[in-house]
Amino acid sequence: MIVATGATGNVGRALVAQLTAAQAPVRALTRDPRRAKLPAGAEMARFDPAAGPAALAPLFDGATALFLHMAAVGEHADAVLEAARKGGVEHVVMLSSGIVEDGADQTHPLYVAHADLEERVRLGGFGWTFLRPNAFATNSLQWADQIRAGDTVRGPFAGALTAPIHEDDIAAVAVRALLDDGHRGAVHRLTGPTAVSTDEQIHAIGRALGRDLRFDEVPPEEVTEAMFPHVPAAMLPALLKSFAAAVGVAPEITSTVESVTGTPARTFTQWAQDHREDFTQGN
Ligand SMILES: NC(=O)c1ccc[n+]([C@@H]2O[C@H](COP(=O)([O-])OP(=O)(O)OC[C@H]3O[C@@H](n4cnc5c(N)ncnc54)[C@H](OP(=O)(O)O)[C@@H]3O)[C@@H](O)[C@H]2O)c1
Repeated sequence: MIVATGATGNVGRALVAQLTAAQAPVRALTRDPRRAKLPAGAEMARFDPAAGPAALAPLFDGATALFLHMAAVGEHADAVLEAARKGGVEHVVMLSSGIVEDGADQTHPLYVAHADLEERVRLGGFGWTFLRPNAFATNSLQWADQIRAGDTVRGPFAGALTAPIHEDDIAAVAVRALLDDGHRGAVHRLTGPTAVSTDEQIHAIGRALGRDLRFDEVPPEEVTEAMFPHVPAAMLPALLKSFAAAVGVAPEITSTVESVTGTPARTFTQWAQDHREDFTQGN
């Protein structure tokens, strides 16, 4: 049995769908199973990470592996890991971040949070696989409200370059790490296949929607929290600093998705097509 935290999120939902399609037993943890809308083949369990190890224990009955999502366990990682260990989990596949690398700014809050959780997993005595993706294509959903409202998207750093990765590809690597031998002790750095600027992302979404969208670049000092609805306010300054540093700078591009799954990583154009409804229907 594979236990998945963050199971209703971008990556977790794709992971649960792929595991159930492969007929692998998966227990999806969520704060609210009634709203989870996950495939029928998945077992669903209510997850309150603050409940303490005793209350968390039944979630790991019969479990051998854990997909670990940092935000979903929050400050309760140790209790969740303790319950997992007692329940029999031997392998943790953690959704970490590409920000964890040699030479990184070790004061960056996203570095601190992910490196700290990786360390807890290592010290927990599990076999582990760390997935370190760079920018998610789903970050573009931050423009969905603006795109529903009109053809102009306002934001900073039109020329910031990333290699956005499709959540299905992160999930596909996680599936292989969970189901196959040979991934214990592996660090998988994951990216999309090509560099795409902010401006080009908006145009790709426009093409998918059959609309002529344009990006109206605003100076960094005019950025509002509303432009980044999914980013916690405390994280925004560090994130803007990262975007500023990415202007005109070629991003890291890895072939890990293809080498692990056998299929090339999906393009941002593909992602935009897959997500048309997210930019047209209310959420
Ligand atoms: N975005 C990027 O560019 C990027 C880059 C590198 C790494 N990452 C990593 O990937 C993670 C995001 O993955 P994702 O997009 O799949 O996640 P997500 O969609 O934001 O959230 C996953 C699930 O976790 C639970 N959750 C989220 N925030 C929570 C909170 N504060 N308290 C309790 N539960 C919470 C929710 O499930 P329920 O409501 O069902 O409980 C949610 O559906 C980041 O946190 C980071 O660790 C992201």
